[in-house]
Amino acid sequence: MTYVVTENCIRCKHMDCVEVCPVDCFYEGENFLVIHPDECIDCGVCEPECPADAIRADTAPGLEKWIELNAKYARLWPNITEKKQEPADAKAWDGKPDKLTLLSPNPGSG
Ligand code: SF4
Ligand code: F3S
Repeated sequence: MTYVVTENCIRCKHMDCVEVCPVDCFYEGENFLVIHPDECIDCGVCEPECPADAIRADTAPGLEKWIELNAKYARLWPNITEKKQEPADAKAWDGKPDKLTLLSPNPGSG
């Protein structure tokens, strides 16, 4: 088991999660973060910290796509260990449907 970042992170990208992770296993894309499945120690500390409620245990139903995307981009994007300025319109994107189509494959600045 591991934890995964899911759809509602896209364009919200608050980054509170990276501040609490004891093993620094978050990786940063342009508008989304992912968790490295081999580095996460399943502590669950990040889950309640996300203002967008975007972090889930991978045992929750229907997360296949997100498990795949977290594993894929954790290999491609830079590690992030400190919260930065969140997007100015982060709150406006909270709960918007179909954000997967907006997921940028570009890396963040790390
Ligand atoms: Fe980090 Fe724990 Fe969250 Fe895994 S569950 S990403 S180890 S804070
Ligand atoms: Fe995303 Fe929530 Fe972290 S919006 S960047 S998973 S705090």
